[in-house]
Amino acid sequence: MTNKPFRIKIISMGNAEVGKSCIIKRYCEKRFVNKYLATIGIDYGVTKVKVNERDVKVNIFDMAGHPIFYEVRNEFYTDTQGAILVFDVGNTGSFESLELWLNEMKSNLTNPAEMENINFVVCANKTDKKRQVDEADGRLWADSKGFKYFETSAQNGDGVQEMFQALFEGVVDTVENGGKVQPIATQLGYTKEQAEAVQRLKTAKDNYERLGLSMGCTKDDINKSYRKLALLLHPDKNVAPGSEAAFKLLVAARTALLKNIR
Ligand code: GTP
Ligand code: MG
Repeated sequence: MTNKPFRIKIISMGNAEVGKSCIIKRYCEKRFVNKYLATIGIDYGVTKVKVNERDVKVNIFDMAGHPIFYEVRNEFYTDTQGAILVFDVGNTGSFESLELWLNEMKSNLTNPAEMENINFVVCANKTDKKRQVDEADGRLWADSKGFKYFETSAQNGDGVQEMFQALFEGVVDTVENGGKVQPIATQLGYTKEQAEAVQRLKTAKDNYERLGLSMGCTKDDINKSYRKLALLLHPDKNVAPGSEAAFKLLVAARTALLKNIR
């Protein structure tokens, strides 16, 4: 194996004030600053690490989370190999925004399919504080996307080292495998598809969306989609948190849609 050092590009994403800069500071400088110093546009830093016996030079682009910096941020998504998606466990809004961050990134890549080649880690930060978002919900979202999940505190350092190490290993594995992100095992005994199904039922806006159908669908479409999802969601088979409620929503959605058709 060659030991040529190589460079990788990592970025941080997530709402303002969730702790992106503090997590990076904790990792690179082993310290924590209590005062909030908003990142202006982008901060850039380099660190050297060893991953799988290889010397790796990591370029970290720390993004400002505030919407006014969108114009500055949007140029920096290109060529990203690893991204840290940070939310604050004490702020539900910051968790719900993660989906928007993925959309922002996707719309700024030359080829949206590049998303598939990026290693993401979800970072549930500020675990030292009172929380609004449960670990199970965070994990479920991450699993439904196929992302690794870590609980961290930039304040006391919990989880920070592990999170970065896993991210760097993921990126190096991807490079060594010709640019393909390696699928990860979900952590709690359910599959990515099962997590995805629970997540979809939980967040869908109407019955069509719950079944993945659009208006004008036939009775056959409804039953087919129902059967597929019922297999994934049945609480006897699906141990993901919320699977029972999701299964009930599915049954109700099917009944309501069939009623519309008759
Ligand atoms: P922008 O640069 O504006 O996007 O924000 P950011 O995500 O970089 O947040 P930053 O790291 O500057 O931290 C925001 C505030 O949260 C600061 O006051 C930090 O001290 C605090 N903070 C960050 N991480 C933690 C943590 O793990 N625990 C606690 N209690 N506070 C934290
Ligand atoms: Mg910052």
